[in-house]
Amino acid sequence: MKALKVGLLGIGTVGSGVFTVLTRNQEEIVRRTGRGIEICMVADLDTARATAVVGNAAQVVNDARAVIANPEIDVVIELIGGYGIAKALVLEAIAAGKHVVTANKALLAVHGDEIFAAAAKARNGQGVMVLFEAAVAGGIPIIKTLREGLTANRIQWVAGIINGTTNFILSEMRDKGLDFATVLKEAQHLGYAEADPTFDIEGIDAAHKATLMSAMAFGIPVQFDKAYVEGITKLDAEDIKYAEQLGYRIKLLGISKRVDAGIELRVHPTLIPTKRLIANVEGAMNAVMVQGDAVGTTLYYGKGAGSEPTASAVVADLVDIARMTGHASQATPALAFQPSSVSALPILPIELVVTSFYLRMRVADEAGVLAKVTGILAEQGISIDAVIQKEAKDGENQTDLIILTHDCLEGKVGMALRQVEALSSVIGSVVKIRKEELA
Ligand code: HSE
Repeated sequence: MKALKVGLLGIGTVGSGVFTVLTRNQEEIVRRTGRGIEICMVADLDTARATAVVGNAAQVVNDARAVIANPEIDVVIELIGGYGIAKALVLEAIAAGKHVVTANKALLAVHGDEIFAAAAKARNGQGVMVLFEAAVAGGIPIIKTLREGLTANRIQWVAGIINGTTNFILSEMRDKGLDFATVLKEAQHLGYAEADPTFDIEGIDAAHKATLMSAMAFGIPVQFDKAYVEGITKLDAEDIKYAEQLGYRIKLLGISKRVDAGIELRVHPTLIPTKRLIANVEGAMNAVMVQGDAVGTTLYYGKGAGSEPTASAVVADLVDIARMTGHASQATPALAFQPSSVSALPILPIELVVTSFYLRMRVADEAGVLAKVTGILAEQGISIDAVIQKEAKDGENQTDLIILTHDCLEGKVGMALRQVEALSSVIGSVVKIRKEELA
């Protein structure tokens, strides 16, 4: 099957991530898609920067219209941003019969209806696809979730931390008791916030994303102009402290809710009970909750920005297009990979699994026990992360010894524990619980 030919408009942070991910994972992607995906042309005003990223792998031009005019190109990825030239180029690409993938939430939240209508009429009514997974919550596949995974549901509400910059600022204000202006400077210094952070801190970026989710959740047009938008610039560090004392965290939430009278669409600082998982989403991370009548409440968490997390979403859209425009048998394979590419990679027996362990044993409270136990572990190359030895209770000559290990082969732990349990100073069997940091 012929590879899907892609033209990239704009190769900054996200564009270079797309190129890197596609190149690095090409083999795995072909196994999923059933055909290759090739970036053949890249347009960027900074052709030197573009060439530094793609080398000879793609033709670099400084004119985006040369990409759109190329009849070989099936898909145009728009990563320019904003409502100006990006809008013109997206509409021209659609008119030229290209599918479009974009990360541009501002463009779609404001002009989405016009763009989707043009896409439906393209190719003499056959239509082209406009996909935008990267536009909302970066690497979290929330668009696919709303469009496909939760399609059986009547959705009641969607609420999310969908701007990493403001979540970082709020986390720092809470953690360090600092005021908004001080943390904003820190965020800019660390590269989290743009030099002009207005869209982030005034809630506009979150409102663009909430607008798109609202349209997808409730089947309504995109209506950014009707969103209530309040940012975090007026938030006082003191209120974060008082909220904390009351059992709440303050987060900038994008909320869209179906009520009897219509649809609520709003972005504003919001108190959330600390015990909710979403209240514990800290730093630049994003999370979105969706409540559907069948599924109940669901939560999606991950990186909302950054080169490769956003590229992950862009490439997923390319895979969708490649599958849908390929042979019918390649469309969304049941087990995600094309049947002809299913691998014979073995499932590992538990002895070959690498993880870390919590070990608890009852030991005689006498000299040398700890040394014997750790000596056996060391012989098997098992490194210890932490040890707790409880003081023996009055009148008892036994105590609990608790050991946390670093990552090691399960089989080695098995061997070590057989020797440990054979020690006369170890009473009974050792309790072994596997530990995963899930970092
Ligand atoms: N400025 C956005 C944020 C980046 O802070 O989340 C991704 O849209």
